[in-house]
Amino acid sequence: MLGLVNTPNGRAPVELRDLPEPRPLPNEALVEVRAFSLNRGELRSFQSNEEGWVPGQDVAGIVLRQAEDRTGPPTGSRVVALTDEFGWAQRVAVPGHRMAVLPDHVSFSQAATLPVAGLTALRTLRLGAPLLGKRVLVTGAAGGVGTIAVCLASYMGAHVTAVVGRPEREKGLRNIGAAEVIEGIDRVQGRFALILESAGGASLARAIQLVEAKGTVIVYGNSSGDPTMISFADFRPAQNARIQSFHYFTSEAEERFAPDLALLASLIADGSLKPRIGVERSWRDIAHVAEQLRERRVSGKAVLLVDAD
Ligand SMILES: NC(=O)c1ccc[n+]([C@@H]2O[C@H](COP(=O)([O-])OP(=O)(O)OC[C@H]3O[C@@H](n4cnc5c(N)ncnc54)[C@H](OP(=O)(O)O)[C@@H]3O)[C@@H](O)[C@H]2O)c1
Repeated sequence: MLGLVNTPNGRAPVELRDLPEPRPLPNEALVEVRAFSLNRGELRSFQSNEEGWVPGQDVAGIVLRQAEDRTGPPTGSRVVALTDEFGWAQRVAVPGHRMAVLPDHVSFSQAATLPVAGLTALRTLRLGAPLLGKRVLVTGAAGGVGTIAVCLASYMGAHVTAVVGRPEREKGLRNIGAAEVIEGIDRVQGRFALILESAGGASLARAIQLVEAKGTVIVYGNSSGDPTMISFADFRPAQNARIQSFHYFTSEAEERFAPDLALLASLIADGSLKPRIGVERSWRDIAHVAEQLRERRVSGKAVLLVDAD
């Protein structure tokens, strides 16, 4: 089968090569991959992993063979799945408890947006629940996690303020639930019960100035790579506010992956969640798409379609 292999010293970050077929463990299904999405975190992993490694966490496809121990969806099911790695291939082994069946009208491309970005958005918002009537601030709102978070927070009843980097990034954010869209966090006014922060550096410092007393700043990324200075004094106007780190993979129990993926897929099916697919291309174009994502030119998610044999 074909798969995309990490080539840190090559002309492109990954290269399509012949790979051995996966050999699923008894608790793993064999899945034919139809689409996957590319995450900003995966851009960094190209350099930190060795030549020959196969990346890929967000997978949508068809179960070719159910797990031997019968966990997970049966053979023939259309599924969304979260893998640790190896997802950027025509076939992949996935633990049965890390996948959910797709409702009929949810496409493979839509489903591929869900594992890393969808779980991150859903689970960070849960940390501020109940959100009905609360003010929620989302930085990096035009990105993969950000667009899903804006949509879900609004669905949960929050008043959502979306922060973008440039005017052209505002497009469509009001349609998916943002009450206001602001260019640059420095221009944001008022205080927030929950802040989802992923830019880091000065953005995190400003987020701390915007949290309300007993409110929460969720720190789940550092896209800028910049550090942030904080001081106890920063919390004088927002006493007992907290800063909480978040890692989607360990944030909840392993057995929560399937129900959360199923929940997200059902929200797409009933129209409550509209994942924005900014770029959808053949997986053969991944180098170009990776460059677009790196340069902040993808609104929402970047989805790659996998060729059948
Ligand atoms: N902790 C976890 O479990 C977890 C899970 C998923 C993602 N993450 C991290 O969360 C961050 C967002 O992920 P994502 O998939 O949504 O990424 P993405 O699609 O690339 O979106 C990131 C957004 O952040 C904004 N941004 C602001 N400052 C930036 C900077 N200096 N460099 C790059 N982007 C900047 C960009 O918006 P503008 O162009 O409008 O400024 C961009 O839309 C990433 O750092 C990722 O690694 C962490």
